[in-house]
Amino acid sequence: MFEAVQIRRSIRAYKPTPIPKETLEKILEAARLAPSAGNVQPWHFIVVTNPEKRATLAKAPFAKFLKKAPVVIVGCGDQKASPKWFMVDVAIAMQNMVLTATSMGLGTCWVGSFDEEKVRGMLKIPERYRVVALLALGYPQRKIDIQGKILHLVRRRRKLETMVSFEEFGFALLSG
Ligand SMILES: Cc1cc2nc3c(=O)[nH]c(=O)nc-3n(C[C@H](O)[C@H](O)[C@H](O)COP(=O)(O)O)c2cc1C
Repeated sequence: MFEAVQIRRSIRAYKPTPIPKETLEKILEAARLAPSAGNVQPWHFIVVTNPEKRATLAKAPFAKFLKKAPVVIVGCGDQKASPKWFMVDVAIAMQNMVLTATSMGLGTCWVGSFDEEKVRGMLKIPERYRVVALLALGYPQRKIDIQGKILHLVRRRRKLETMVSFEEFGFALLSG
């Protein structure tokens, strides 16, 4: 599992190869098994493969690659069922899918660039659900990812000691 965490990168170029049904089912099963506050499971995932729908989703500013990703999973959270935790719960389930997909050789990219009301209208999502995030899914295409490279350069991974402290908040060094 840690290997999937280590090798995962956001993938923004995909081969047109469809995802086999069993593979997709396993990825969705990873969402189903995720933990959730009070075990409410306030999620709903819409699997979008339709090219016109993907093209519409791809119109958002940082989502062009959704047009080529064979599958886009739209993560929705039931805000009535779990007003405080729906976003966290949906995010955990989506990251379970990301890591499962990674371990099966697929690429993914979280997408927060969407117009919620447009997505709601197009996919007939009921009012009680919020659209939390989208997930692009497909076999990675070898291609230079300028956006990814820039993001990795301007915002390098933070060092552990700048994001962890012990006993109380502060930039305490991790020392043995
Ligand atoms: C909640 C969330 C929303 C994101 N939205 C977008 C997006 O709209 N478009 C995009 O290209 N990448 C998006 N990303 C991917 C991030 O840019 C990426 O995770 C970050 O730059 C680190 O790169 P890495 O995933 O390759 O490690 C999003 C990631 C998260 C977690």
